[in-house]
Amino acid sequence: MLRIEKLTKKFGRNTAVDSATIHVDKPMMIGVIGRSGAGKSTLLRMLNRLEDITEGTIIFEDRKVSSLTGADKRAWQADCAMIFQQFNLVPRMDVVSNVLHGTLNRRSTLSTLFNLYPTDDIHRAIDILDRLGIAEHAPKRAEALSGGQQQRVAIARALMQDPKIILADEPIASLDPMNAQVVMEALRRIHEEDGRMVIANLHTLDTARRYCDRVIGMRAGRIVFDGLPEQLTTDMAREIYGADATFSEEATSTEINTIDRSAAKAALAKVTA
Ligand SMILES: Nc1ncnc2c1ncn2[C@@H]1O[C@H](COP(=O)(O)OP(=O)(O)OP(=O)(O)O)[C@@H](O)[C@H]1O
Ligand SMILES: [Mg+2]
Repeated sequence: MLRIEKLTKKFGRNTAVDSATIHVDKPMMIGVIGRSGAGKSTLLRMLNRLEDITEGTIIFEDRKVSSLTGADKRAWQADCAMIFQQFNLVPRMDVVSNVLHGTLNRRSTLSTLFNLYPTDDIHRAIDILDRLGIAEHAPKRAEALSGGQQQRVAIARALMQDPKIILADEPIASLDPMNAQVVMEALRRIHEEDGRMVIANLHTLDTARRYCDRVIGMRAGRIVFDGLPEQLTTDMAREIYGADATFSEEATSTEINTIDRSAAKAALAKVTA
C-alpha cells in the first residue's frame, strides 16, 4: 500500500536521506530509530510532502505522492496527519478549538475567520477527545494541560482529519515516562482499532521494540535495518547508533522500560472509562 523507492534528500552537499526504499503492504505501526541527524525527520517530512524530494518516488495505494501538486498535494497532506514533539497547539485557544483546527483544510475562509464550526464537527471533536481520555478538558486552554494531555490533543486534531497515515516525529521526546507511555498506548490503539498506519520517529530503542510491529533503523541517511522488533539485536542496535564498544542499551533508553505497560494501559483506560 505504501512504496517508497530510492528516496533521497540532499541539502547542498549533505545527503540527509540516501536512497531509502521501504515497502509496506498493510497498515502497520512502524518505528524509525537512529541517532540525531540520521535523517528520520527528513524522511517523514518528505512523506507528507513538507520537504521537497531530491530523487526517488513515493506511491500510496494508487497515488503517486511524490509527483502531486496543488490541491492533490494538499489532499494527500490531509491524509497523512503529522504529530510533533512540541505538540504545535495554539496555547491560548481552548482544547476543542485546537482539535477543530484539524478540519481547517476543508473549511471556507469565512467560517474559519468567524470560528464557525458545524455542530457535527464539534460533536466529533468531543467524541475523539473522549476516546483519548481528555474530553473533560475540552473547554480549557491548551496551555493549561500537561504535556501528555497536550500531545493527546494533538493526536485528536490529527484524527479529526480522518487520516490514512499518522506520522509522528518524536511524539514522546518531551514527556515524562508515564505520559510517554500513555501517548504511545493511544497511538497503538488508534492503529489497532482504526487500522491506520502509524510511522513514528522514536529516539529510543525500547519504545520502538515495545510498541511497533516493524522497526526501521537509519544511519547517516541510509536504512541499515528493517525488520521485526525481535530481530533488533544489541549488535544491530550498535550498528544503527554507530556506537563503539562502550555502547550500552541504557544510553538509548528512556525510563520507559521500568514502567509496566499494563500500568499505562490502565491509566489510559481509567481516563477513558
Ligand atoms: N532544512 C535543512 N537545511 C539543511 N540541512 C538540513 C535541514 N534539515 C535537516 N538537515 C540536515 O539533514 C540531516 C538529517 O536531519 P534530520 O533532522 O532529518 O535528522 P533526525 O534523524 O531527525 O535527527 P534528530 O534525532 O536530531 O531529530 C542532518 O545532517 C541535518 O543537519
Ligand atoms: Mg528529527
